[in-house]
Amino acid sequence: MTGDPLFDYPLRRGERLDPPPVLGELRADRPVCPVRLWDGSEAWLVTRHADVRAVLADPRVSADPRSPGYPFLSAGRAAAPDGHGSFNHLDPPEHGRFRRMLSGEFTVERIARLRPVVQRTVDRAIDAMVSAGNRAELVRALALPVPSFVICELLGVPYADHEFFETRTAARMDLTRAPELVRAANAEIMGYLEQLVAEKRRRPGDDLISRLITQHGDSGEASPGEIVDMVRLLLVNGYETTANMIALGVLVLLRNPDEAAVLRDDPDPEAVERLVEELLRHQTIVHIAPTRAVLAELTVGGTVLRPGDGVITSLSSANRDATVFDRPDALDCGRDARRHLSFGHGVHHCLGHTLARLELHAVFGTLFRRLPALRLAVPYEEVRFKEDAGLYGVHRLDVTW
Ligand code: HEM
Repeated sequence: MTGDPLFDYPLRRGERLDPPPVLGELRADRPVCPVRLWDGSEAWLVTRHADVRAVLADPRVSADPRSPGYPFLSAGRAAAPDGHGSFNHLDPPEHGRFRRMLSGEFTVERIARLRPVVQRTVDRAIDAMVSAGNRAELVRALALPVPSFVICELLGVPYADHEFFETRTAARMDLTRAPELVRAANAEIMGYLEQLVAEKRRRPGDDLISRLITQHGDSGEASPGEIVDMVRLLLVNGYETTANMIALGVLVLLRNPDEAAVLRDDPDPEAVERLVEELLRHQTIVHIAPTRAVLAELTVGGTVLRPGDGVITSLSSANRDATVFDRPDALDCGRDARRHLSFGHGVHHCLGHTLARLELHAVFGTLFRRLPALRLAVPYEEVRFKEDAGLYGVHRLDVTW
């Protein structure tokens, strides 16, 4: 790398529902900027929408943590790279082998079949909130259980075990967690899934894990270890992401009550879809990543990146780029926000985006209609944000109605 690092990364936020303000200055003046990581190493931070797209679509960059110069965002990540061994950290052509085995499970038609179960799960969660009184902690009552239950249904993981994998996943996401604790959390999830996959091999059911085994495992196309890796990736990516998005989305709407008005009386499905895209853009939960390593020289935004350089693409910055979104810092639920990059771009574009959108449409199409007087039960200043996690969100959200 060349050039003195200008900032320590991750950057700190000012207003907690907005990305660090310095990102705006970087987009204007230094769109590809050297930053310093926790271990003193350096990486390029890419902040403009067009440059982020270009990097994520470029075969000269690698998503594989074994590539020289791959930037780790914490000691825990370096010790137990997120998804080490899973296909989100493989490059083509190996990456495509896994993606093809799963793509049939995530088509629009297949995911649409989950609509009744998703809506039922949302309705039940809200019913339980209402019957318990007029106050709830929304992360535990709605944001977490809805996607967690739905991914369990899809995969064939017993929901009764949700406390187990939720606590381990949270430990993996925490950037401040000691490397040995991250490694231990990873090992526990892997041990649990190895047992579950072995059980499904003996007694297959009507679920994604069983289909992976019968369609791709039995033929030898995927080894037992590869099946466990795929399931692990789907389980840990399959609920915590959406859960954070639900909680942050509700919070930002409570801070912008006029924008939530469209949801209060019988919302039109297209208005809900537009609103969800705007929430995804405005509250980019994959807020300090994705990260890549350069394999062969390329020029991004006028800066030459060399083999062995680390690159961090800032989705939260790209989503606030004024050349793509008018008044980018404003939450405007009527705008067409579909060019946001919250689900990434290129070969690693989120496999589960259709499922995430289905869940978000059900939650936002129902919650404010059922509870039109929804509001924070504590001062906003007391809400604790996940500043030190790879996925942005809130630890808890106390609401009343
Ligand atoms: C990849 C965001 C929900 C499964 C990604 C990436 C992003 C992302 C940004 C690309 C990472 C990279 O380029 O390195 C989100 C957001 C979600 C969400 C914001 C919710 C609001 C889900 C769900 C599932 C899922 C529900 C599973 C059912 C995956 C998988 C990948 C991925 C398997 C890796 C794809 C690959 O490498 O080919 N997601 N995700 N995601 N996501 Fe999601």
